Amino acid sequence: MQLYVDSANLKDIKHAASLGILSGVTTNPSLLAKEDPTLDIKKLLLEIHESVGGHTSVEVVSTDTDGMLREADEILQWFPEATIKIPFIPAGLSAVRKLSDQEIPTNVTLLFTANQALIAANAGATYVSLFLGRLDDISTDGVQAVRDTCEIWEMHGLESLIIAASIRNPLHFLECAKAGAHIATVPYKVLMQCMNHPLTDAGLDAFLKDHQKMLTAKS
Ligand code: E4P
Repeated sequence: MQLYVDSANLKDIKHAASLGILSGVTTNPSLLAKEDPTLDIKKLLLEIHESVGGHTSVEVVSTDTDGMLREADEILQWFPEATIKIPFIPAGLSAVRKLSDQEIPTNVTLLFTANQALIAANAGATYVSLFLGRLDDISTDGVQAVRDTCEIWEMHGLESLIIAASIRNPLHFLECAKAGAHIATVPYKVLMQCMNHPLTDAGLDAFLKDHQKMLTAKS
């Protein structure tokens, strides 16, 4: 399972990228709105992409097909490597089909069921983003939606890549990997939580203390 960071915070993204573990970044209008409003969004997105080097999703905000295609065109002029992130609405599906026919990568977002993911795949989506945390928020099993989607993909040999999104904790991350998601897009905080283990810290502490003891005994 590849790892993307779900963020628009350059400092966090740069730190996660420096670990050498990232294959991409996903952003959305809400993540961008959390950043300093004086920042130039285009410059920020290009810097984000430069820091990670792989996939960067940029979301359109139009709700009609022509508007989405116009935005995609505009984004690709200043950011040719962008993956165009499109919401799962009927107008979005038509836009995905048109972009896909031109071999422009798309990420269909705001998917909550395997049915929606399957329909997005049939529109030619390069990536399908399933939001599991938001399902858990309304007392619905988000991981199960990812499991269902992965099972259908396996059965039918579908090509779109499944992104497990709206990940809220390390257990989500683990369960999505077990389900067979191709990619998990993870908030920086959850990424750090996934790396943390008290036995790793205690073990390193003991190794360093013992090494020091050995040096002291030799001198
Ligand atoms: C994915 O592409 C979205 O940006 C993201 O995962 C949404 O997560 P949230 O539910 O924590 O806002």
